[in-house]
Amino acid sequence: MTEEGLNQNHQANNRVTFKSDALARSNSIVSISSSCEGETTLLPEVGFAPVSNNGGTIESPRSNSESQPLLARMEPEAQFNCFPDDPMFSDLVRQAEIAIDNGIYPERIYQGSSGSYFVKNASGKIIAVFKPKDEEPYGRLNPKWTKWMHKLCCPCCFGRECLIPNQGYLSEAGASLVDQKLHLNVVPKTKVVKLVSETFNYPRIDRSKSQMKQAINDHFPKLGRHFNRLGLRPKVGSFQLFVDGYKDADYWLRRLEQDPMSTASNEKFRSQFERLVILDYIIRNTDRGNDNWLIKYNPPVIKKQPRSYAYLPQEWNGSGDHGGNGRPDVSIAAIDNGLAFPFKHPDSWRAYPYHWAWLQQAKVPFSTQTKDQVLPLLSDMNFVQDLCDDLYQLFKQDKGFDRHLFERQMSVMRGQILNLTQALKDGKSPLQLVQMPAVIVERSKGRVGTTSRFRSFSDTFTQRFQNKSPFFSWC
Ligand SMILES: Nc1ncnc2c1ncn2[C@@H]1O[C@H](COP(=O)(O)OP(=O)(O)OP(=O)(O)O)[C@@H](O)[C@H]1O
Ligand SMILES: [Mg+2]
Repeated sequence: MTEEGLNQNHQANNRVTFKSDALARSNSIVSISSSCEGETTLLPEVGFAPVSNNGGTIESPRSNSESQPLLARMEPEAQFNCFPDDPMFSDLVRQAEIAIDNGIYPERIYQGSSGSYFVKNASGKIIAVFKPKDEEPYGRLNPKWTKWMHKLCCPCCFGRECLIPNQGYLSEAGASLVDQKLHLNVVPKTKVVKLVSETFNYPRIDRSKSQMKQAINDHFPKLGRHFNRLGLRPKVGSFQLFVDGYKDADYWLRRLEQDPMSTASNEKFRSQFERLVILDYIIRNTDRGNDNWLIKYNPPVIKKQPRSYAYLPQEWNGSGDHGGNGRPDVSIAAIDNGLAFPFKHPDSWRAYPYHWAWLQQAKVPFSTQTKDQVLPLLSDMNFVQDLCDDLYQLFKQDKGFDRHLFERQMSVMRGQILNLTQALKDGKSPLQLVQMPAVIVERSKGRVGTTSRFRSFSDTFTQRFQNKSPFFSWC
């Protein structure tokens, strides 16, 4: 293993060019345009498709299409939302589509800084959270004026310089992928899907175009059949399962300060907390405030006990914080993972610390149970490479995907995994983990792109430490 560059200034490496091959790919699309220069996603979806027997639309349960003219969905999107290896997830997305077709639209979450939506099923129950790419905090159609003002008035502080802009939906799905590969089970399952809904934020021109096409189709069906799409453009975004019965971590952490958990619950909480730490550290989450993770906890119901049982501990007397099966019912859900997978460690103004590092639980060394679960996987170079390959398959679908930047993201992630592995072996605590110097593990020259099995770490990778620190280390 070679260590180099301890004292190098890596700033030069950090200059990023965002290239997109999307323009080249867009040649096939007929151009009637909307606004916003440089945004390939703005290229119109209007085109002339070969005529199919059914006009190219999916059979929809809607009886009166005229009353809801904006929601036509096309076959390619339906295929996009299909996950053959996960029929339950496909089914859930299908439920959302059916609900939308029946006028039960996703509802915007007002507290967020971006366009995020609670997605419902046909009976109106919330089943998922959808975050469209183009409504992300710095997406071109972000509906929140605060972000717009931010961009306008304070461009120098705008965005996070260590992240690839406007790929939050991939980061959300990537976090879920890492969670599943390591069997952490703290991220509600998240995948990339396409949805269309009147309640999403569309430019007025898109709505007008869609209405005009619908009117043409209604009056001249033969002509209308030539439109590639009648309704609004489906939006690509992250679709995360909604978890019931959880509250912001902040809420529970405050309450637990006054009224601590029982020992059994505390053990379960610690195990869950460690999984959250492992996830965040690997993906180098830059946005883990205590509002971005949720806790489900059934606190003890104080029942009046018969005098003879009053001495028994809470865990035994049936009134404790238990799930139905007698085990403590404490779970953590890591939501809002859209600001992770940086292509360099934060080194400018802010450090983007993990806010859980200030908690008491972060001072306790990782448990043996956690170590036994993740160490064998993380110490296996082929497992780490598989993880990188899976992330590549996920991330490459973005129109702005840049292979070079992806390699840098993976170098940061490999560095995090290296530190984590060492910390687990050395019996460190989460707090000690986050105090370790930031490392980057790059592929050695000539190895880029290889997916073959590795013979040795030092043959394949080069490790270097980051020598530049952000100006503010506490925020
Ligand atoms: N999977 C989920 N299950 C249950 N509730 C969720 C889920 N995802 C989000 N929420 C709820 O919605 C709120 C907003 O979600 P989230 O933080 O992901 O949105 P956001 O638009 O990115 O917000 P911000 O940018 O302000 O953090 C959360 O505080 C939480 O209460
Ligand atoms: Mg949030």
